[in-house]
Amino acid sequence: MEPFAIWGNFIYTEGPEKLCLRPNSVAVCKENGLCDGVFDRLPDRYKGIKLKDYREFITIPGYCDMHLHAGQYRNQGRGMDMQLIQWLERLTYPEESMFRDLDYAKEVYGELTADLSEGFTTRAAIFSTAHTKATLLLMDELERTGLKTLVGRVNMDSNAPDSIREQDAAYSLAETRDWLNQVRDKGFLRTQPIVTPRFVPSCSPALLKGLGELAGETGLPVQSHLDENRDEIEWVRQLHPNSPSYAAVYDENGLLGPRTLMAHCIYMTDEECALMKERGAYVVHCPTSNTNVRSGIAPMRKYLDMGLHTCLGSDISGGHTLDMAEVIRQAIGVSRALWQLDEGHPAYLTAQEAFYMATEGGGSFFGKAGSFQPGYEFDAVVVDDTGYCQRKDAMETRFEQLIYRGRDSMVVDKYVAGECAIDRTI
Ligand code: GUN
Ligand code: FE
Repeated sequence: MEPFAIWGNFIYTEGPEKLCLRPNSVAVCKENGLCDGVFDRLPDRYKGIKLKDYREFITIPGYCDMHLHAGQYRNQGRGMDMQLIQWLERLTYPEESMFRDLDYAKEVYGELTADLSEGFTTRAAIFSTAHTKATLLLMDELERTGLKTLVGRVNMDSNAPDSIREQDAAYSLAETRDWLNQVRDKGFLRTQPIVTPRFVPSCSPALLKGLGELAGETGLPVQSHLDENRDEIEWVRQLHPNSPSYAAVYDENGLLGPRTLMAHCIYMTDEECALMKERGAYVVHCPTSNTNVRSGIAPMRKYLDMGLHTCLGSDISGGHTLDMAEVIRQAIGVSRALWQLDEGHPAYLTAQEAFYMATEGGGSFFGKAGSFQPGYEFDAVVVDDTGYCQRKDAMETRFEQLIYRGRDSMVVDKYVAGECAIDRTI
């Protein structure tokens, strides 16, 4: 691609502790789609390259939505008075079973991808459903958006109605291998597969073992759910009485490693925290979902302090919106609620930490992404904050208001790994 530069006002992090605010600066995207850094002015060696003028606006690396269920898109905002297990049985499984119908899948996945591509999200880790054809269709749609995504065909052969449950481990594994072969043949540039055991109760011991072997063999990343709800945890204990913990069940099957995303992690024991840390696995915090279906509050500040990898997810449709600005606000809000309710709790999340989790925290799962540091993939989201801010406002103010007032509709332009990833341009 042609190298180009953005002239604007940049907000990004260099690790969880450093927020960089760079007004009236220039970020360069090299021909390989990598960022060369943020400069006070265009370096001489880049004289003559295309310079896009976004000085009115602010530019951020974009948000990474590290946990969402594409097959639940239509259910956003429905069933918000139920808790996890009832919500799965009454609302979620019936909706997901609809995706055996490819016309339905095309309609819904078209809406989802349009929604994702218009907003703050640059990268995502996505669950589809237990349907191979619909998952491939979703991947085709996502590839067109320009976003970088990981997509998992969901494995579930136990404890679900026949309408959505796969008949046994052998079938589930064979379908998964077939799906992976088809994905390979498609040669996607931006859309990659991720091994996706739904959660421990949905998977027979043979399926967990087979998926762990598959992940080991292929080196593919893994995503699942962990310690979301107290009844769920008790259920896992009964299903696996000889395992020391819920996290240990994944670990015993080779499913916990540095390329693993575990959604929720609200009730991790000290042993589970230590195991997650040792394996280098990621905690995906989903505060909108955790509040809606009353799962609880994950102690994210504690996890950050422990040095666990942390990031954020919309978890639609436990979560009610794809708008990561809302997820960030709730991450900050629930963390403060936890601090207020529990005097022993160390501290609460700052806006900067939540922003870090949404950008670099999630981006690091893709390699070097989610920041404008040199060598990072050039992801940039241009945000029109002029509805409430003025150019003369301090960058500190623009950052705080981005956090508290940001919404997807403010996005005016978007690049992922240097490629334009939005239809609307100013
Ligand atoms: N645990 C197992 N499946 C699901 C799901 O679809 N959503 C959430 N939030 N938790 C789950
Ligand atoms: Fe989920």
